[in-house]
Amino acid sequence: MPGRTRIRLIEPADAAPIAAHRARDADAFRRWEPDQPPGHLTAAGQAERIDRLLAGHRAGTLWPGVVLADGRVIGQVTVGGILPQPHLRRASLGYWIATTAQNQGHAGRAVALALRLMADELGLHRVEAGTNLENLPSQRVLRRNGFAPYGVAHSSILLDGSWQDALLWERLLD
Ligand SMILES: CC(C)(COP(=O)(O)OP(=O)(O)OC[C@H]1O[C@@H](n2cnc3c(N)ncnc32)[C@H](O)[C@@H]1OP(=O)(O)O)[C@@H](O)C(=O)NCCC(=O)NCCS
Repeated sequence: MPGRTRIRLIEPADAAPIAAHRARDADAFRRWEPDQPPGHLTAAGQAERIDRLLAGHRAGTLWPGVVLADGRVIGQVTVGGILPQPHLRRASLGYWIATTAQNQGHAGRAVALALRLMADELGLHRVEAGTNLENLPSQRVLRRNGFAPYGVAHSSILLDGSWQDALLWERLLD
């Protein structure tokens, strides 16, 4: 049932399902996500990546999550670049949902859950996100969660071989 969306901290055992999603969806994601090293598509490569994400979590700079539907991993939601200093208290948000689970509201609900975690558990004040100007589904997810666009970063990210502008989004948490 699409309503059953949860998020939790990523675990080493998530490597295999994440690699399977990313291998199957590599062509579909190429337009929206930067080139990844070949290991990204294997369980071993994902296991190394998860180790790095969890090290970032221990250091306090990241909250790397997975998105679950009925207990199965269908994507990731990552709070990155955490700046916990009292005068900043901000972070950025990223996410993806496997093509097999898209358009069922999972990203919208996962972002809502991540916003609650950022406010209640991480004590953050401000969150930022960036989307491609043509990534309308991702923009819908942010708008539905109270984000507003505040600018364009020109030639900001290399996607599928060309430098692309990014639409910048912000939301206050408290
Ligand atoms: C963007 C992404 C996370 C959305 O995940 P999702 O679970 O399908 O999102 P949701 O179902 O919660 O919401 C999708 C919204 O986009 C809308 N949508 C879908 N296709 C669309 C299209 N071609 N044009 C406009 N809107 C579209 C849906 O109607 C829905 O909006 P609504 O809630 O107003 O009805 C997913 O498509 C994805 O992972 N894409 C590839 C990676 C990516 O883009 N990551 C984000 C980088 S910023």
